[in-house]
Amino acid sequence: MSGSAARVAVITGGGRGFGKAFGHAFAGEGMLVVQVDIDLAAAEAAAAEIGPNARAMQGDVADEPAMHALMRTIAEEHGGIDLLINNAGIHSAEANLPIGVLGTARTRQMFDVNVWGVIHCTLAARPFMQGRKGASIINISSMAAYGSQMAYGVTKLAVRGLTASFAHELGGEGIRVNAIAPGLILTETIKAELPEDVRSRVKAMQIVKRDGAEEDVVGAALWLASPAASFVTGETIRVSGGATLQV
Ligand SMILES: NC(=O)c1ccc[n+]([C@@H]2O[C@H](COP(=O)([O-])OP(=O)(O)OC[C@H]3O[C@@H](n4cnc5c(N)ncnc54)[C@H](O)[C@@H]3O)[C@@H](O)[C@H]2O)c1
Repeated sequence: MSGSAARVAVITGGGRGFGKAFGHAFAGEGMLVVQVDIDLAAAEAAAAEIGPNARAMQGDVADEPAMHALMRTIAEEHGGIDLLINNAGIHSAEANLPIGVLGTARTRQMFDVNVWGVIHCTLAARPFMQGRKGASIINISSMAAYGSQMAYGVTKLAVRGLTASFAHELGGEGIRVNAIAPGLILTETIKAELPEDVRSRVKAMQIVKRDGAEEDVVGAALWLASPAASFVTGETIRVSGGATLQV
């Protein structure tokens, strides 16, 4: 390994939305951020926007061998991995259906990305995170993990389960594992795709009556990755303006 001074963050789904916002935030903290996305053009545009502390890499989190090769390459080029954010996910409104309606093929695809993607990336990054001071993993779950009967919610409930499970499994190696369960956050994708009636239904459930913003999720991630949260592992933190108290 070449060994570099900067701490290294790997962010899946780093091309847009939360992933790009995480890249801005952790680069701003002085980390080298690697924006991994299935859409290379999006990852490259995000990295260019973030600046000299950002890199772009193409990768599909559902592809296990590819994720092992990718994490190894990152560790060899940059000296190791300090933070992994398992953020890539399929969450389009048209896929938010009961499993029987969505069908097994599309449900499997959602599990491959939202659930298996977390497993692949965690196990692939693990050897390069072991024993590094302050190493941590942040998984992105969802408010849909609390009481949703849709395929998407089941995948995000699995992410909560994986967070607790990997916190146990990796804790002895000095790696903390936590999750964030965002409520409705107005990313570009959500603004473009989510029907207005769903937006207003979720907002009516919120105690905090403003729109959720990317900065709300970023704030939780900065804290979870920081020494201030060094006694916190296995948790899923809800960032939903209180909406999940209603489900
Ligand atoms: N926006 C919200 O309101 C909200 C709420 C709760 C949870 N989430 C979760 O947060 C995460 C990010 O959401 P977002 O709104 O920023 O999404 P987004 O759709 O704006 O961005 C997701 C990114 O992930 C990439 N991606 C998709 N499949 C991939 C794969 N197989 N491998 C690698 N990259 C892949 C996409 O190309 C895209 O750039 C997702 O896991 C989503 O389920 C979002």
